[in-house]
Amino acid sequence: MTNQDPWWRDAVIYQIYPRSFADADGDGIGDIDGIRARLGHLRDLGVDAIWMSPWYPSPMADAGYDVADFRDIDPVFGSLKKAEALITEAHAAGLRMIVDIVPNHISSEHPWFKAALASPDAPEREYFWFRSQPTNWIGEFGGDTWTRTPDGMWYLHLFTPEQPDLNWEHPDVRAEFEDILRFWFDRGVDGIRIDSAALLLKDTSFPEVAPDKPHPFHDLDGVHEVYRAWRRVADSYPDRALIGEVWMPEVDRFARYLRPDELHAAFNFDFLGCAWDPKLMRECIDRTLAAHETIGAPATWVLSNHDVTRHVTRYGRTKTTFSFEENLDGTPVDLELGTRRARAAALLSLSLPGAAYVYQGEELGLWENESIPPAQFQDPMWGRRGHSRDGCRVPLPWSGDEPPFGFTTGTPWLPQPAEWKDRTVQAQTGDPNSMLELYRTAIHLRRAEEGLHRGTMAWLDTAPGVLAYTRGSTFACVLNMSGVSVPLPDHHSCLLASGPLDGTLLPPDTAVWLRLHPGK
Ligand code: GLC
Repeated sequence: MTNQDPWWRDAVIYQIYPRSFADADGDGIGDIDGIRARLGHLRDLGVDAIWMSPWYPSPMADAGYDVADFRDIDPVFGSLKKAEALITEAHAAGLRMIVDIVPNHISSEHPWFKAALASPDAPEREYFWFRSQPTNWIGEFGGDTWTRTPDGMWYLHLFTPEQPDLNWEHPDVRAEFEDILRFWFDRGVDGIRIDSAALLLKDTSFPEVAPDKPHPFHDLDGVHEVYRAWRRVADSYPDRALIGEVWMPEVDRFARYLRPDELHAAFNFDFLGCAWDPKLMRECIDRTLAAHETIGAPATWVLSNHDVTRHVTRYGRTKTTFSFEENLDGTPVDLELGTRRARAAALLSLSLPGAAYVYQGEELGLWENESIPPAQFQDPMWGRRGHSRDGCRVPLPWSGDEPPFGFTTGTPWLPQPAEWKDRTVQAQTGDPNSMLELYRTAIHLRRAEEGLHRGTMAWLDTAPGVLAYTRGSTFACVLNMSGVSVPLPDHHSCLLASGPLDGTLLPPDTAVWLRLHPGK
């Protein structure tokens, strides 16, 4: 690895949601030993890195995104010793490790907040936003952003009341998080995923806001100073990456986070939210690449994560927009169509220039479980926005014909659809038509294919509704979003197809990777 070619520029990064990956101790909740026992799955898949969603001690008011101690592990997941063992074992298996840091807020059970609540004179009160009057700000999950304390003051929380926002104007808060970064870098982690990265700074005049005005806590200029300091910490270690969760429709504002002295990469939610439409998809890809090229940062390609409806389900709905609430409007889902498109999307996201993210279960073709009884919902967003993210967080199916599909010897914390019996790792292994084998083959080809690392991307002229591009001189990807079969380019051999071809025609919602033989 050279300095010009750091690992995170074109890695395939697999997101583990630890509650739902694999359970070793039978309590129905995934844990570190479960992950250690299943590292072979990730090695076989061929991914380069693991991003671990929060595993710290937490009352789990927001599934671990309410952290009570950033330097330890919640007993439900294991212990710090086991986390260190996992880091070592992952490295031995050739996998880098990224941990999730949540700087905007901490748990109301964190010692700082407990001290702040205990006395109005506690110095820890300065680490938060305590005020005598609330504002009318609307929270990220909807609803109020201020909660009253017994002594009559109000504290700010952009998410749930159990997630008080930190005061990033305070030097102690900054010093604490720089130290937390060092804590994990010292334990060998290769990167940090930064939660809610654009929200840290607040407009400290605490204005009242009209509903149509920008939030006075979103993307304030001062946040960049925080990341410049973090970058200095990361740069004091070899090969460490900072990856931001930056939800930002304005590409120019987004790109500011990727300036050479700030974050290394940020999730591409523009791509995640793009409808299955050739014009919108091409515009999104062009917009993404232009913004990243200007700033010199690698693009990222994200199809799903633990916050959004799984993309098999999204693509199985014929809609042109995306929102958290999209599964509330009753639009029927065609899972067969969604699966076909998800297969094609895999070949798209794994062949565009930059890093690709795979959310656990996406390689199995899992769909959103939309049949969880609301009484079992655990997501705090349910009740605030009338939408639950639990449907994309259901435990993985590993083996067997019925739930819990080898995930646990107990009862999974969320119910798995019985129909997943065809989607277990065991059922798909060795089946050349399975989603799992498609991902395995694609990721291994990607690793071997020079064009997919350094090859410049160039669009090819094609029929309307078809996206086709080359990477380097001999690799091409063609994705048919046109609704009718189209001819494949001349003089090629097929490396991989997302679905059956129709002679020399590419059927709708199908993608191929080709080796071009120019001049033949
Ligand atoms: C991020 C996380 C999400 C969490 C929120 C608050 O968006 O991805 O799961 O609820 O931040 O920490």
